[in-house]
Amino acid sequence: MQIAETIQELRQARQKLSGRIGLVPTMGYLHEGHLSLVRTARAECDHVLATIFVNPAQFSAQEDLASYPRDLPRDLAMLEAEGVGLVFTPSAELMYPPGYQTYVTVEQVSQGKEGSARPGHFRGVATVVAKLFNLIQAQRAYFGQKDAQQVAVIRRMTHDLNFPLEIVVCPIVREADGLAMSSRNVYLSPAERRAAAVVPQAWQRAAQAYGAGERHPEVLRSIVREHIAQEPLARLDYVSVASARTLAEQDAPSEEPLLLSLAVQVGRPRLLDNCLLPMALNTREGASAVLGRIE
Ligand code: PAF
Repeated sequence: MQIAETIQELRQARQKLSGRIGLVPTMGYLHEGHLSLVRTARAECDHVLATIFVNPAQFSAQEDLASYPRDLPRDLAMLEAEGVGLVFTPSAELMYPPGYQTYVTVEQVSQGKEGSARPGHFRGVATVVAKLFNLIQAQRAYFGQKDAQQVAVIRRMTHDLNFPLEIVVCPIVREADGLAMSSRNVYLSPAERRAAAVVPQAWQRAAQAYGAGERHPEVLRSIVREHIAQEPLARLDYVSVASARTLAEQDAPSEEPLLLSLAVQVGRPRLLDNCLLPMALNTREGASAVLGRIE
């Protein structure tokens, strides 16, 4: 496995790769969720190119940039074991040298939900992903459904800026009790870790109601609110029932595909989770077809 730390090293190594390139952008501290992206990319592409970069532009001053978990040797060993051919590990100075002043803002779809909770976050994500798309020239890029609004932002940017690549969305990978895998789960104390199981339980209850015929968005939101309220260590930040395509919040019952998403503070981390409704959409094909789809 080749490791490129500079743009010149990346370009040289990239030039030697032919066929379909699958890009897996990450911030490192890899878990099974990232590896599922790598495995899907390997199954579908001739070469997998992963990036590891904790992107300062997507953290606000109050967030955990300095303490964000990092373990580069472990990440590289995991990627090598998965058959990744090339890893790009730039420094912050390389990506944002002195004098840097160009940012990408995706408008409506960046607003609300994570966009309200983390002002500037999606500007940072869109900027770094646009830079990686330009540098790497992949044919496909793989993202996790857990960050569903991020997927919709990246899809919109890819379309609006005419990047010639396909965005693939892979299902959420979960712990045995249903908690969505996340690098920030390491911040949970043992008691908080147990309490965190309410997050997947809450959307599962709403999904069951949907399966039984409930279509009113406010009823689905209330089911989530009531379940989270039962856990003293959990504080619901938001629950959203939105169009899976536009991410616009829904008020009226409909049969169009929905994204039910929630953010819950449990101790230090804000835990994100979601499901697509109907539940059959929570697959690589279903999520890639509907989430942030542009007609
Ligand atoms: O999802 C992430 O890990 C990051 O937001 C991404 C897409 C790698 C951009 O920094």
